[in-house]
Amino acid sequence: MEYLDKIEEATQYILDKLPKDKLFAGIILGSGLGNLGEKIENKTVIPYSEIPHFAKSTAMGHKGNLIAGWLGNQFVVGMQGRFHYYEGWNMEQVTMPVRIMKRLGIQYLFVSNAAGGVNTGFRVGDLMIIRDHINLMPNPLIGKNLDEFGPRFPDMTRAYDPELMELAESCAAKLGIELKKGVYLAGTGPTYETPAEYEFFRRAGADAVGMSTVPEVIVARHSGIPVFGISVITNEAYSFAEDFVNDGDDVIVAANKAADRLSSLIVDMLKAL
Ligand code: HPA
Repeated sequence: MEYLDKIEEATQYILDKLPKDKLFAGIILGSGLGNLGEKIENKTVIPYSEIPHFAKSTAMGHKGNLIAGWLGNQFVVGMQGRFHYYEGWNMEQVTMPVRIMKRLGIQYLFVSNAAGGVNTGFRVGDLMIIRDHINLMPNPLIGKNLDEFGPRFPDMTRAYDPELMELAESCAAKLGIELKKGVYLAGTGPTYETPAEYEFFRRAGADAVGMSTVPEVIVARHSGIPVFGISVITNEAYSFAEDFVNDGDDVIVAANKAADRLSSLIVDMLKAL
């Protein structure tokens, strides 16, 4: 079956389950941040396993549900868990949810992730607005262009919407939440970086490093959806004590601790939009 037909079939399946309200925003919740899904009210929960052609969520800290409902007075669709390239999904599968959200009619996309902080000013638990990215993963738009969604050569000058960044800063100020701002670099994973790689990325201009998000952002921008991206810094990737090890469980714990701050921020942004 053609990719486009799969997208249409999955979209139709989801639409049939949802109330007829117009969808306002899509939210992709990264590692340990799925709790925001619990805040969605009057929700319809659709397990990924029920959605035709959808991949299945296998990453730790990822639940695997599509949740539609009300958040910050807006009708939203949230992905509790995303698909990663390192799980073995191809880029069409990794980014299909974004295509589907576009078809569902979202006007904004919010993306979040857990990331290693290579900026030496960052501490575990910090929230970082993604102001730009460096993509070291395969580009998800390689292959025949889907003209129905967007152009062959999409502009990436403002991959992250400047107005949404401003709104985040003003909402965070009102909430008393401190925000950093920086460049997110995406690698394939699943290995964490070597100290030499972290150093390389810092010198290349990265502030945070992760294994997700950029494919979804590229596909969203291809179809003209304004994007807001935010990273939770879950490990400090710049000074390594002799007994230091990077550990996936620590990453989830650190992300969970930041989840409430992140949720309040996104809720207030939705209210203000
Ligand atoms: N590197 C890559 N991905 C990550 C990291 C990291 O240090 N921390 C959380 N996700």
